[in-house]
Order: sequence, then C-alpha cells, then structure tokens
Amino acid sequence: MRRRRLYEGKGKVLFEGPEPGTVVQYFKDDATAFNGEKTGTITGKGVLNNRISEFLLSRLNDVGIPTHFIRRLNMREQLVREVEIVPVEVVVRNVAAGSFAKRFGVEDGTPLPRAIVEWYYKSDALNDPLVTEEHITSFGWATPQDLDEMMQVALRVNDFLSGLFIGCGLRLVDFKLEFGRLWEDEDMRLVLADEISPDSCRLWDVESGERMDKDRFRKDLGGVEEAYQEVARRLGVLPEAGPTDIQGPTVMQ
Ligand SMILES: Nc1ncnc2c1ncn2[C@@H]1O[C@H](COP(=O)(O)OP(=O)(O)OP(=O)(O)O)[C@@H](O)[C@H]1O
Ligand SMILES: [Mg+2]
Repeated sequence: MRRRRLYEGKGKVLFEGPEPGTVVQYFKDDATAFNGEKTGTITGKGVLNNRISEFLLSRLNDVGIPTHFIRRLNMREQLVREVEIVPVEVVVRNVAAGSFAKRFGVEDGTPLPRAIVEWYYKSDALNDPLVTEEHITSFGWATPQDLDEMMQVALRVNDFLSGLFIGCGLRLVDFKLEFGRLWEDEDMRLVLADEISPDSCRLWDVESGERMDKDRFRKDLGGVEEAYQEVARRLGVLPEAGPTDIQGPTVMQ
C-alpha cells in the first residue's frame, strides 16, 4: 500500500493515516542523542517502543488522560489522531540526572524535594533550549491556560507512571512529554502526543540502580537492546514470539 510520507524524524516516520485526521507513526530502530550528534541503531527498538508506548498511553487513557493514541496496527506502526504539536517539550523530573544535574552542579541520582516541571522549546536548530513560561507565552507557542493544563496533566502523568513503574521495580527518574492540539469544530483540546518509551524516559532499576533507558546508548554502557526488552518484559508487553520477533525491519508485518 502506498501512503504519503508526511515527516521523517529521528526516531519515527509519520505517514498519512487511512482516515482524515489520522496519522500512522512508524517506529524506527534509529537512535540519536545529543541533538543528533551521536547516531546509531538499536536492533528491535522500534518494535519495543511501539508496544511500550501503546501500553503506557492506553493506561493513561484508562485513567482519563486524553492522548492521541487510537490503536496499534502492527509490529512497528500505530494509528494516532493527527494533532498540531505544541512546540514545547514538557519535562518532569523526580531525581537529578542528565542536563539538569550538570546545569545545577548536583550529583546524578540526587532526589528532588518535589517533582519539577521544565519547558524546552522544540527547535533542533537551537538545540531545544530551556525556556520560561514568559518566553512561551510571548512568542505565542502556548497560552497561559495551555501551560496550566499541560503542567497539571504532566504531574498527573508523573504520579500515575511513577506508581506503575515502581510496581515493575523501576524508578521513573524523569521523562519528556509532547502535547498536541485537537480541533473539534470550534473547540480545541490538548492531548498527549508523540510517544512515551525508554527513549523519552529515564528508568533506573530500583534494586541495582542500573540504567534501563536511552542513557545506555548515550553513555555507551552496552546492553541497550536488552534494557529495552527488559522494560517491555516487566510491563508485560514483550511481543508474543519473544526476541525472535524483534530482529529488525525484515520482520515487519
Ligand atoms: N499525533 C501527532 N500528530 C502530528 N505530529 C505528531 C504526532 N505525534 C507526534 N508527532 C510529531 O511527529 C514527529 C515524530 O518523529 P520523531 O520523534 O522521530 O521526531 P524527532 O526527530 O524527535 O523530531 P522533533 O524534533 O520534530 O520532535 C515529532 O516531530 C512529533 O512532534
Ligand atoms: Mg521525537
């Protein structure tokens, strides 16, 4: 079937969906870090992220958090509602790590007294800079009402996912969300979009502190595929046939 390719990003390809107002997200094995400075592939990552994101977005839907997710189509693709992406990445942090630890000179793994929400402007050219609410509202990327809503939803997502992951022996250190605008007649709703996966979350094993996310790739820790598989296994969403399913694009349905 020929479908129109709408956009190719670093981790996914977007195709025109079968019905108006829908798009298909195709999850690739490509991995990038440090805004594309480092590239590579993680075999089977696309298959696992497709499953993991399906699972997490569905559970969020179950508790009344609206998302773009409609249904998974096959091993590497899911059908989602087409939205107008708010050009702001919302990051929630429970523990200092990565750029946050560096920026404030605190040690990786320092627990934060409460969850911290940060905003980053989505711009590869500018390296996704940290921005304030003032910047966001003056440039018109989102209104103060949008920011309130995104902040509240992000904190609800944090509470829900922190609990869900703790149940699997994983600590949700931080994660990134994207929101999109969905228009219904004159009304606009904000919904969670993009993906939630070990590409967009930091997950540390509760017992060993082992990194179970894209930091394994960023820091050349090895065992990247295995970590993504382990997260999927703990969530109970490993593809039926197990690891033989996740060799790469040749097994696409
Ligand atoms: N429901 C949706 N409707 C429209 N666009 C979406 C939707 N969900 C996610 N997107 C966008 O699709 C792209 C997904 O591709 P990918 O994650 O590979 O991008 P990326 O390389 O991270 O680039 P970007 O900097 O644009 O996020 C992102 O730009 C994301 O914002
Ligand atoms: Mg992305």
